[in-house]
Amino acid sequence: MADKAILIIGDQRIELPVLVGTEGERAVDITTLREQTGLVTYDPSFGNTAACKSDITFIDGEKGILRYRGIPIEQFTEKPNFVEVAWLLIFGRLPKKDELDLFSQRLTENELLHEGLRHQYSHIPVDAPPMAILSATLNNLACFHQQFFKLVDDESFVEVAARLISKVRTIAAFSHRRSNGLPFNYPDPNLRYCANFLHMMFSIPYKQYIITPEIEDALNLIFILHADHEQNCSTSTVRTVGSARANLFASCAAGVSALWGPLHGGANVEVIEMLERIHHGGLAPEDCLRMAKDKSNPFRLFGFGHRVYKNYDPRAKILRESCDRVFATLRRQDPLLDIARKLEELALADSYFVDRKLYPNVDFYSGILLRAMGIPTNVFTVCFAIGRLPGWIAQWKEQHEDPTSRITRPRQVYTGPPQTDYVPMDQR
Ligand code: CMC
Repeated sequence: MADKAILIIGDQRIELPVLVGTEGERAVDITTLREQTGLVTYDPSFGNTAACKSDITFIDGEKGILRYRGIPIEQFTEKPNFVEVAWLLIFGRLPKKDELDLFSQRLTENELLHEGLRHQYSHIPVDAPPMAILSATLNNLACFHQQFFKLVDDESFVEVAARLISKVRTIAAFSHRRSNGLPFNYPDPNLRYCANFLHMMFSIPYKQYIITPEIEDALNLIFILHADHEQNCSTSTVRTVGSARANLFASCAAGVSALWGPLHGGANVEVIEMLERIHHGGLAPEDCLRMAKDKSNPFRLFGFGHRVYKNYDPRAKILRESCDRVFATLRRQDPLLDIARKLEELALADSYFVDRKLYPNVDFYSGILLRAMGIPTNVFTVCFAIGRLPGWIAQWKEQHEDPTSRITRPRQVYTGPPQTDYVPMDQR
């Protein structure tokens, strides 16, 4: 028999159903609570609220587990292929070879930007933040692909998903070229997804960028590890915007805006800036911890802590190991990696972090790996967004296919003044 929750309020006693997920998590279904009692629930920042049912990603934050469609992320690290993972997330199962080939072909066919869109770059200030460009340009894609506002069948959905996943690389690389006064590199149809991005970022007319397998694999891995993370801030934003039946371009553009924040994807920039400050002698690792613990100081130890993980973030673990491997293969070193390790060691031995179960998250080591590829700091969060896009698309699709889905519209507890009269200007 299914569980029920009994709620007693004064002399009223009501029964609420308890939902059970496939991994045994339980949730009290309060959808009829207000109807039955007149009460709403209060859960600021949704720390204790499941806003939807989802088949896409499973996290066990206590054990440090992350799975895409049931598959542990560790299993994608051997031969990382971001496009395959994107397909898995969006369509719900691993693609067969011909399905993956067809989807890759679609990505290739859609890699160019409309020339009208390309020209818009010349009107953007050279120092414009790439995340602002990304959000604006994803929104602008809607002007050039209006036939996808209403997705009439599966074919139009696959096509719009491919356009977004393909063009996001081009948009990102062009913003980097623009900010460095470099000519745009058109995508090369002979290159795979990550290699093509690196080519658009780094080739110069007289010197083709040489793509090494280690770097290509590392970028695939970074994108895969960022590909979905259930109902995080940007994904919830995509779902919220999508719940109003806004198109996929507008919904994903909103996701980029949420991701930009330093408590979310923007943390990867904050981490590197913090490590660089330490490296240049402006700050000692111990100072960072002291400031992070000081409640009167807004500083946080960026790349540490997570709403869901109360254990080591499995993505951070993979990235940490990957840093070691990539630097060893490239026979390179980065002093920031040593500083990051030192900071981690100090934090994990400090009762403030231990008691609060604050561990490194995905953003702690990702920037060090991106630096090794030559990706500039202001493109780090853009790389997070490229990786996260399939997750946003998968979540948007799931929401649109759910017949019970309604517009997102939380309630509030009003704490403003009681009814009061308007006072004319001359009497105030
Ligand atoms: N440095 C110092 N103290 C921290 C940190 C940190 N990085 N993270 C959490 N705390 C403290 C926090 O002050 C609070 O202390 P107390 O109980 O004394 O009030 C306690 O730990 C619980 O933290 P919280 O703020 O309630 O946690 P949250 O779930 O609201 O926030 C977070 C999660 C990720 C925003 C937060 O841990 C944080 O600000 N971390 C630094 C930013 C960061 O690395 N963000 C990337 C997150 S992972 C990738 C992504 O999703 O984008």
